Amino acid sequence: MNHKPIDPIVLVGAAKDFWHTHEVKSYHIPSIHMNDGPHGVRGTNSSAIIATKNKTATCFPTSSALASSWNPDLIYQIGKAIGKEAKAHGIHALLGPGINLKRTPLGGRNFEYYSEDPCLTAECASSFVKGIQINGVAACLKHFILNEQEIERMTINCMVDEKTLFQTYLWPFREVIRKAHPWMVMASYNQVNGDKVSESTYLLTEVLRQQLQFDGVIVSDWGAVENPVEALKAGLDFDMPYMGEYQTETIQKALQNGDLDHEVLEARYKRVKDFSNKLDFSNSQGVNYDQHYELAYQAAVQSIVLLKNDKQLLPLNETTERIGIIGDFFRNPRIQGAGSSKVTPYKQITPEMALRKDYSHIQYSYLNPTQDDLKDDTYVQEIQAFAKNYKTLILFAGLEEMIESEGIDRHTIRLSSYYNQLINIVYEANQDVIIILNNGTAVSFDKMKQVNSMIEAWLPGEAMGEALWAIVFGRENPSGKLSETFPISDLDLPMGPRFKMNETDVVYSEGVLTGYKYYDYLNKPVHFEFGFGLSYSEFKLDNYQLIKKDKRYEISLQITNVSSRKGMEVIQLYMGLDQPSQIYPMKELKRFIKIEVKPNQSRRVAFTVDSADFESYNTNLKDYVVVPGIFNLYIGTSSRRIHFTSQVESIYDEMSIRKTLLGLRENSLCKDFYYYPLTREPFMESFSYLKEEGVFDIILDMPLNLIARLFPDLISKECMDGFLKKVGGLKKQHIKNK
Ligand code: GLC
Repeated sequence: MNHKPIDPIVLVGAAKDFWHTHEVKSYHIPSIHMNDGPHGVRGTNSSAIIATKNKTATCFPTSSALASSWNPDLIYQIGKAIGKEAKAHGIHALLGPGINLKRTPLGGRNFEYYSEDPCLTAECASSFVKGIQINGVAACLKHFILNEQEIERMTINCMVDEKTLFQTYLWPFREVIRKAHPWMVMASYNQVNGDKVSESTYLLTEVLRQQLQFDGVIVSDWGAVENPVEALKAGLDFDMPYMGEYQTETIQKALQNGDLDHEVLEARYKRVKDFSNKLDFSNSQGVNYDQHYELAYQAAVQSIVLLKNDKQLLPLNETTERIGIIGDFFRNPRIQGAGSSKVTPYKQITPEMALRKDYSHIQYSYLNPTQDDLKDDTYVQEIQAFAKNYKTLILFAGLEEMIESEGIDRHTIRLSSYYNQLINIVYEANQDVIIILNNGTAVSFDKMKQVNSMIEAWLPGEAMGEALWAIVFGRENPSGKLSETFPISDLDLPMGPRFKMNETDVVYSEGVLTGYKYYDYLNKPVHFEFGFGLSYSEFKLDNYQLIKKDKRYEISLQITNVSSRKGMEVIQLYMGLDQPSQIYPMKELKRFIKIEVKPNQSRRVAFTVDSADFESYNTNLKDYVVVPGIFNLYIGTSSRRIHFTSQVESIYDEMSIRKTLLGLRENSLCKDFYYYPLTREPFMESFSYLKEEGVFDIILDMPLNLIARLFPDLISKECMDGFLKKVGGLKKQHIKNK
């Protein structure tokens, strides 16, 4: 069939192959090269979606590790380095960061996402995006939206209520768009409430572009688009990858038969043109990969979390003569996760290589039992003899590569039966075994409560070996804090060990209660809480002050290092509505700062809280508005280690006053007027007499325009009109250009 030439405007943004779009000379649109990934340049030129034949690049710690550094400045530097390497590989758009939330520790790609918390996610991602884009390379926020599971990800329908969608899952996108202005967003494979994301006008245009004010381009996840015309109409710009001539031919045909307005293509052309104008197509300077390795080392050091040190066995003394080491990750560590984020590391120093290189004076013996060995009583006895024989014993455990991966979710938070059994066997012989975990997301195992020394190494990138021993032997002081909760059992998870509610749907039934918000709300014990991590230093927090200013609160405190080691602490500020009228987290992370304190030094830490911190998405007003009432404010060194608490009342800035007044209408509930400070006084002036009549509390839950009809003998027309006149006066005063 002879194909009519494709109209050049149809080729603008169209995929040419797996990683590139067409160059369209007549529109001065260059070919754009997109490639993964969030932890380093994958740079594959292969078309296989999970290809691993990649160029070499620096392999940084994965996002779940980086978020545990709680250090946005460090993450900015990593974004800058990755952007530089991307540019050197001729990549114009780097497909990262992933900012989906860890709704459950079972998510297969949790290693690729920062946290269970929207605030920590947004802070990390904003820094990463700024770092990438300073190179003239686009960062790409992904996966918009609700890609928190891998199971049937290309077809699954995610059902979520509006409040949860906007307050929890869209919130990181909103914040990063506001703070870092990413040039690209990737639309996910799944459906949301029956709407296929990559073809949804509501999600791509009304929500992402209009409500979240995203002004960049939208790319589909690879192969996510079924109907290219619908995707284009919905606001998608790049339907990746090239999958056949049909992608452009169906658009051409729709244009010709009137199913597609030319304006839609012109709008896409403008967005793609604006996008390409931001990119730097110039040749890049060289990359100093050794310098990037050092950065990867610093990132690993700051991401590793000291979880237990009950007997102060850590740090080990470098004069330790001999140590026993067990476990495959010592020799074959997991430095990253499987799937499209996979990097071919520039260089990789394994724990075994680093121990030999940097600690050659220390004798060690190594045991790496197989699964079958654990079934053999004789061999088990040998393992236990080995364990008994070393005062200093280290056991590497964690998640095997394909247990957590893109495309594969976990079915339990427990370690594999192999590692669980190996820990039980070794612990029985030596209770002072030091556990080193190598995993991308929260895990649990039988002896997790009993072991007295444990380090979470995460998937810490190519410098894992040197960073890990530097922490173990104390050349570096651990400062990582968990970016996710470590629950005890599958039965503690919001949906238990499953995702799907039925054959087609995942239902986000836990609502806004993700991660620590869920475990706190139900007062569930956990192994380790969000934000937790130990240090070799010891800190004291005091001199807490809270000062109310005009439109903000100023909180300050003093941190003193009462030990002999320089170290870093992460001070965390949480807030929660004191008497919520709906399901509401008891506390939400709002601010944090990582601060270094020298021995016997005291430093002042200060936070400012303003009206935006009192906002929540209001499903009546379809916007983020200040919640009226009293909030509890918590300062701590984890979500559960709270050092100071205060109560503060919501504060409104002019914008929030306007948004709230706009939402107050005659059919609003009486309590909306009563609880909103600006209208409380006029409301009481008009209706407080109803308290004597015993109906005041009842009318609060009623629409204002109903109460006069319902109680004509109690509420006169004059009284109602008088109140409405006062509210009208306030609106005139605060809502300009009505
Ligand atoms: C994959 C991933 C996405 C990645 C893309 C290109 O399916 O979901 O994160 O960027 O395809 O590899």
